[in-house]
Amino acid sequence: MKVALRAASAALLVFVAAQVWLPPALAAEDMEATGKDLTLIFRSARKVISDNQDLINDASKGDKGLSAAAVIEQTKVNYQAAAGADLNLTDDGSPTAKARAALISAVQATMDEAQALINEQGKGFKGFLPAVFGGRVASNFSAAMAGTFAIKLTAPKAYVRNRANRPDEWEDKVIESMFKQPGYEKGKAYAEAVPVKGKAAYRYILPEYYGPSCLACHGDPKGEIDITGGKKEGAKLDELGGAISLIIYQ
Ligand code: HEC
Repeated sequence: MKVALRAASAALLVFVAAQVWLPPALAAEDMEATGKDLTLIFRSARKVISDNQDLINDASKGDKGLSAAAVIEQTKVNYQAAAGADLNLTDDGSPTAKARAALISAVQATMDEAQALINEQGKGFKGFLPAVFGGRVASNFSAAMAGTFAIKLTAPKAYVRNRANRPDEWEDKVIESMFKQPGYEKGKAYAEAVPVKGKAAYRYILPEYYGPSCLACHGDPKGEIDITGGKKEGAKLDELGGAISLIIYQ
């Protein structure tokens, strides 16, 4: 009798505790996997734009064949090549599945909206760059997932061109005091549970570096005007050039 009572009160305690200490929507290891996966989808999509930059800039062509469907198909190919597994878009009702689908929808909306611009014949450079595409995908995604997920393309403060991409305090701290340090492992993401505007959150940030193709605009000589009309940063090959920053609200 006494044992049964003790078991019952223990069960009650567990029940009460479960009510008070609501488990996070995603466990820590799931959040890290989600961070890795969403940033890889983002990069796989952006790569389609960078691989097709010459086509996009071709003044002699009208329809570029870069419909939303074509970009999403190629995103899946890029993802498969990088992850060694197919992009999983099955809706199992989890927050991660919702976020994956929302990211693909954000690519869809961004490309649908860009069709008139990129298919204009007689116009060469159209200002449709990987970073511009990335910025639009990020804001479409973050608007659709408001309060649950947010993604953003950012850069070291000294290199930011578009003010909308400025790092916030936490991003700036990670970029300057970790990513830019000589001993920091190249390409390694950093994650931390830290509130955002007073809301409990898990933050994940992935560093990115300038490759040879980036330097035509971001490289030397510093201050020279690039094809976009912006000023070159004077950055060097393999230098930290940006970061993809993800927030998972709890
Ligand atoms: C044709 C010129 C050009 C090339 C090539 C280029 N960029 Fe950019 N980049 C820009 C412009 C212009 C912006 C500002 C976009 C905007 O207004 O949102 C930008 C923005 C960015 C940003 C966002 C932060 C910011 O400054 O607003 C990152 C990160 C970035 N570029 C990294 C790269 C990397 C990495 C590469 C090579 C893989 C690259 N860029 C290639 C012109 C270029």
